[in-house]
Amino acid sequence: MRPAGAWLYVMLALACAGAAQARSAAETMDILMWNREPVGGPFELIDQTGKVRSDRDFRGRLMLVYFGFTYCPDLCPTDLMAIGQALEQLGPDADAVQPVFITLDPERDTAEHLAEYVPLFHPRLLGLTGSPDAIGAASDAYKVYFAKIAIGKDGVDYTIDHTSFIYLMDADGKYLGFFPPGTSAERIVEIIRPRLATPTR
Ligand code: NI
Repeated sequence: MRPAGAWLYVMLALACAGAAQARSAAETMDILMWNREPVGGPFELIDQTGKVRSDRDFRGRLMLVYFGFTYCPDLCPTDLMAIGQALEQLGPDADAVQPVFITLDPERDTAEHLAEYVPLFHPRLLGLTGSPDAIGAASDAYKVYFAKIAIGKDGVDYTIDHTSFIYLMDADGKYLGFFPPGTSAERIVEIIRPRLATPTR
């Protein structure tokens, strides 16, 4: 490649990297819907007990991954409740499934705060937080769109606008697909059960 061509390539790559950080909700949804880019990937975050957890800890199990925040008034609790109920309905088979909640609001969702929140939905629901960079890397990998929105006049209080898909990952950590927001526990079970019949390594 001629030097001019190489520079053009580098500039294009930089432009794409810049764009990747500010994708709209529509763009991330488009990527997910048509499988345009890989979904998921390695993460290293802190769980509700303060322990470092990585995606590699869950190999051999299916993962249900959900991004949200504990102050979310409706969607997050509804979907987390569906995840918890699905695990209940799976009975002993639920041992082969790891539910994971990753916060998009690490500022307020500390490990201590997650320790009070996640058991409301299921005793095995893992809550993960981390530095804004670590959370940003995980949400980019899963093609999650989120934005902090100020509420009220003082500008101190905020909410988080976010896409809320429940991601299903296989026993090797690879992306299988997503459940749209509002999917019932029964539907989750119906879709997960045949996957559990597939022998894992
Ligand atoms: Ni939410």
